Amino acid sequence: MNQTDGTPVWFMRQAGRYLPEYLEARGSRDVLALSRDPEVVVEITLQPLRRFDADAAILFSDIMVPLAAAGVDVRIEPGVGPVVGDPFRAPDDLSRIGPFDSAEHAPYVSEAIRLLVKELPVPLIGFAGAPFTLASYLIEGGPSRDHRRTKRLMRDEPSFWVRLMDRLSEMALSHLRSQVEAGAAAVQLFDSWAGALDPESYRRHALPWSRRILEGLADLDVPRIHFGVGTGELLPAMREAGAEVVGVDWRVPLDVAWERIGDGGAIQGNLDPTACLGSWEACEREALAVLERAGGRPGHIFNLGHGVLPETPPDNLARLVDLVHERTAR
Ligand code: CP3
Repeated sequence: MNQTDGTPVWFMRQAGRYLPEYLEARGSRDVLALSRDPEVVVEITLQPLRRFDADAAILFSDIMVPLAAAGVDVRIEPGVGPVVGDPFRAPDDLSRIGPFDSAEHAPYVSEAIRLLVKELPVPLIGFAGAPFTLASYLIEGGPSRDHRRTKRLMRDEPSFWVRLMDRLSEMALSHLRSQVEAGAAAVQLFDSWAGALDPESYRRHALPWSRRILEGLADLDVPRIHFGVGTGELLPAMREAGAEVVGVDWRVPLDVAWERIGDGGAIQGNLDPTACLGSWEACEREALAVLERAGGRPGHIFNLGHGVLPETPPDNLARLVDLVHERTAR
């Protein structure tokens, strides 16, 4: 970290559409194409750090990159998200995921990381999608409000579900290990849609595979962050998956979230991203409320509760970074 001695701060989606320089670098390419070009990845990852003193950078890439590299027909549609050409509905569909060894099939990711760590003044966070969230995109064919096909399949076709989750967790583990080997100083496992599950279903159908990934990184000795949206009721279970840090969205007050993960856990979050859309005064007020709930405890990483929204004025984020640093300086 920037050796702030206070609370470190970075933002999910800190590189992206709210920055005019990102839109310019992107041109007409989609995230998957951009991710395959290490020089572009370096440029886009560095862009937000030229505007503010975040304590970490997150690699510019996408959770769908390994599946695309393994031959799955996936594209990212603007304003929609990942769309899978031929959604997975039957066990035979598994054969459409080709071999995936990150260093071999997505070499551009480690290459970008090797270039980045030479230039970065702060640690780089690598990441992967967690199996439940990736399975949902494969099965639904795109973003879904209720994940109905995914949940039906996980309950009615246990052997297909287990094989799919086994495969997705192997891929994520390979991808995260190779990112750390290339120089990533921390990793985040994004289980963005896990909050669609009740705690019992989460424990049975998702947690074992996320735990397998997180435990498979233990020997690398890097901090592991485990994040999902709408996971208020899942926090104790997520803590059991083994990460040092649990990321929480804005729906759970930070102090309540802390009680749920228990002492000794660290928390990342959790300002509502919409709080940054308007006046600085409103953003500041809500950010101070988050810091108040964190109560100066060590182990708080300040972040938004989900990614930066495209309409966010960049200056609000710059002021937010300074505010967190000033108010938590020790
Ligand atoms: O956080 C970062 O700055 C790193 C880059 C990053 C991207 N995607 C770039 C991106 C990360 C960490 C991701 C992870 C990701 N991708 C997740 C997990 C985090 C989360 O938001 O819950 C998910 C669910 C995805 C799938 C995905 N890819 C979505 C939902 C979208 C947005 C679609 C839209 O247009 O609203 C994408 C596209 C995407 N990934 C963009 C970026 C910067 C926008 C692409 C563009 O239009 O330029």
